[in-house]
Amino acid sequence: MRNVFVTGGAGFIGSHCVISLVKNGYKPIILDNFSNSHQSIIKKLEKITKKKIIYYNVDIRDKKKLKLIFKKHPCYAVIHCAGFKAVGESVENSVCYFENNVGSTLALLECMQKNKIYKIIFSSSATVYDDDKALPLKENGKIGNTKNPYGTSKYIIERILKDLAKSDSRWSIRIARYFNPISNHPTGLIKENPKGALNNLIPYIVKVAQKKISELKIFGKDYNTKDGTGVRDYVHIMDLADGHTAMIKKISHKKGLKIYNFGTGKGWSVLEVVKAFEKQTGISIPYKFTKRRKGDVAISICSPKKALKELNWKAKYDLDHAIIDIKKIL
Ligand code: WQD
Repeated sequence: MRNVFVTGGAGFIGSHCVISLVKNGYKPIILDNFSNSHQSIIKKLEKITKKKIIYYNVDIRDKKKLKLIFKKHPCYAVIHCAGFKAVGESVENSVCYFENNVGSTLALLECMQKNKIYKIIFSSSATVYDDDKALPLKENGKIGNTKNPYGTSKYIIERILKDLAKSDSRWSIRIARYFNPISNHPTGLIKENPKGALNNLIPYIVKVAQKKISELKIFGKDYNTKDGTGVRDYVHIMDLADGHTAMIKKISHKKGLKIYNFGTGKGWSVLEVVKAFEKQTGISIPYKFTKRRKGDVAISICSPKKALKELNWKAKYDLDHAIIDIKKIL
């Protein structure tokens, strides 16, 4: 059974990737320093997968510890999810975001090189795209005009990976650009549960539904969209996790660097999400309009055609199904 290291494997994306990897006959090994996740997730993953999950409480910038782990476990490929990801927080702590996100990636690449491991999937983001008008966004679209240190850190790492692939043909590098990952595993045992700052729409809606906050703030209603609120491409986290396994399955077929969008190709406005949530759950979500959030774009929707063509991957679940799964964590 092939070992796949998952950095940040206790986090929202990484933990769901672990489940998909086990389902597809791989053996995930989690590397996580639990700075933005909880160790309790390991037991939940073992319950869901019915397998023992090997994990290391390690900061991947700790090159000595990383070397020992690579020595101990032969590694087929790495899924690199470790990184800070709250856009607002990144504006307040830009240096720490670059040090953590870029610094940890460099330490990981160095250790992989030393151990002759040349297969890596990098967790990137729709935030690297320029907010150009060429919608839906395609993988060859313009990037780099990032609006915040989080997005810039992802863009910098993409540039590093592109140069690495150009300079050393032994590498097989896959860049996964996530649109808006939402929802949770259908058991409700694991979900988006960062230790750090909340940032995204769905976790806020969940907090309102749980009466932990009194109302949702909707950031802006004057965008040039169907109802004036922001439009995004929400993709079920289980679909996204299966997208990683789809890349792992094919990663040995082609050396070099390839980029894939992971989204549904459909856009939902904030108000449409609120209405869908109320309809599926029967819970009213009070809200008030506030001013736009700095750095937000009006619309972000992907073209997922390349992942379908090259990976045979397509999102299976729509927004309503995602909300039905969210109901299990309320
Ligand atoms: C969605 C919409 C907001 C909260 C995210 C992550 C980023 C990346 C891409 C992975 C926008 C509106 C939100 C709230 C609101 N993910 N909103 N009230 O900004 O598209 O980016 O996905 O790499 O890490 O930040 O997602 O969920 O923050 O916002 O009105 O309380 O909801 O304005 O239109 P975003 P989001």
